Amino acid sequence: MANRAILITGANRGIGLELTKQFAQDGWQVLACCRNPADATQLQSLGEGDLDIEIFALDVTDYQQLSALAQQLAARPIDILLCNAGIYGPRGAGFGAVDAQEWLRVLEVNTVAPLMLVQAFVTQVAASRQKLVAVMSSKMGSIADNGGGAEYIYRSSKTAVTQVVKSLSIDLADRGISAISLHPGKCIRVESHSAICRPGTERAISRIQRQQYSLVRTARESR
Ligand SMILES: NC(=O)c1ccc[n+]([C@@H]2O[C@H](COP(=O)([O-])OP(=O)(O)OC[C@H]3O[C@@H](n4cnc5c(N)ncnc54)[C@H](OP(=O)(O)O)[C@@H]3O)[C@@H](O)[C@H]2O)c1
Repeated sequence: MANRAILITGANRGIGLELTKQFAQDGWQVLACCRNPADATQLQSLGEGDLDIEIFALDVTDYQQLSALAQQLAARPIDILLCNAGIYGPRGAGFGAVDAQEWLRVLEVNTVAPLMLVQAFVTQVAASRQKLVAVMSSKMGSIADNGGGAEYIYRSSKTAVTQVVKSLSIDLADRGISAISLHPGKCIRVESHSAICRPGTERAISRIQRQQYSLVRTARESR
């Protein structure tokens, strides 16, 4: 039987790169998407070894490119579609300093693009064994957890994408597809374009993977 396949967006750095490595090391076929494969040196080196990693160019807000990739991968079942790519937007832009264009840009990447991705790849997910759509949300999007105010842009984008996932979980249920949103835990980048390096972060990443596996198992057992 073929290896299970996961498609990950934003796979060139940060959490996406680490999950690419971990899933590939566990024997998964990883369809690793990033905006600029030519510049994705860490991802390329991972793909040059024995790991089953294929790299594809994808800006998640380029809907023509998305549609072309979905056609290219039309015959490939995708067990987990992981919408990981995301941006924070300007930090510290509090009340009175929120820029509408910056807000719209973050909403497009964090909220609109994940749904477009799922719409583009739903057939491949439905054709897989595990049938899971996962979106990297954030505790910052929790309304109950917002005790600090501010961070309008990022918070609202993650609140909204969680609502998108809720509707997906209902709308795709009859195709056997589960949809979940994830909070990876706080992961700190210590330098630009580096993977995450603090010990606590590694634990957070392992937790994501454990969470994924347990959700995958639950999704499978519930069918
Ligand atoms: N780090 C945390 O503590 C934390 C906590 C909660 C949730 N999250 C969420 O987890 C996800 C990953 O976070 P991270 O910390 O790994 O972020 P990161 O290190 O900043 O990496 C973001 C990734 O998203 C990609 N990306 C951004 N815009 C894109 C676009 N238009 N098309 C395709 N790819 C795009 C980036 O690609 P480029 O290299 O081309 O820019 C990069 O690969 C995000 O959704 C984030 O909101 C993170």
